[in-house]
Amino acid sequence: MLVEVVDNYESLSARAAEVVIQQIRKKPDSTIGFATGGTPKGLYDRLIQAHQERGLDFSKLTTFNLDEYVGLPPEHEQSYAHYMWSNLFDHVNVTESRVHIPHGMADDIDEHCQWYERRIQEAGGIDLQILGIGANGHIAFNEPGSSLGSRTRIKTLTSKTVEDNARYFEDPDMVPEYAITMGVGTIMEAEEVLLLASGERKSRAIKKTLEGPLTAMVPASMVQMHRFAHVVLDEEAASRLDYRHHHGIAEPKDDA
Ligand code: F6R
Repeated sequence: MLVEVVDNYESLSARAAEVVIQQIRKKPDSTIGFATGGTPKGLYDRLIQAHQERGLDFSKLTTFNLDEYVGLPPEHEQSYAHYMWSNLFDHVNVTESRVHIPHGMADDIDEHCQWYERRIQEAGGIDLQILGIGANGHIAFNEPGSSLGSRTRIKTLTSKTVEDNARYFEDPDMVPEYAITMGVGTIMEAEEVLLLASGERKSRAIKKTLEGPLTAMVPASMVQMHRFAHVVLDEEAASRLDYRHHHGIAEPKDDA
């Protein structure tokens, strides 16, 4: 694992942007996996800037998003489709037909999930998958207890997630209880995963993910099995690590 610790959220976003921009420049027809949430917003702002000021070309990319709420149409303000278009895709020159986000209103969800997996295969697999991490160690919507070999499927949201989301919805009937999510197994097939974590709130999950045992109770710990996991943390997220990680090795911090 390549673990980099930077000062703060700004530096984390800048470092993540370097990695993604380098990937796009190296292979303009890359397949990139995108995440939603607060963590990658700074990265997406920088990608928009790179497009607008330096002509970074998104037109040949194929994209796959990690997850989407079941029951929300793409135009719903809380949908991940809406997030992706408003935070990134609307501001760069992506080719709409190559953008893939699971459809929360699919008639046959199981069939849709299988189609999503097939589309990833047909695209030649994901070159670079961007990931955030939940405070409980989830990746995408693979909550603790999810199979480490899982594929794209429908998952029940934890009661805590449903509770947390309720504040964003005027109509309590619209608060999603299910999501479609890439599986841990699907994510691990990406050539490279780029896991980003910022803030003290993530420090316990990061400690367990990088230095704890591989376990379905912390789905993100599966990055230990990945052949090229790149982890960028800010100091707060890294604050509970017992090891100093550098150049792909780890040394105990208190080993004087
Ligand atoms: C989002 C996703 C989630 C988030 C995670 C962290 O597509 O898959 O796993 O990455 O919940 O969210 P933030 O960045 O808001 O802390």
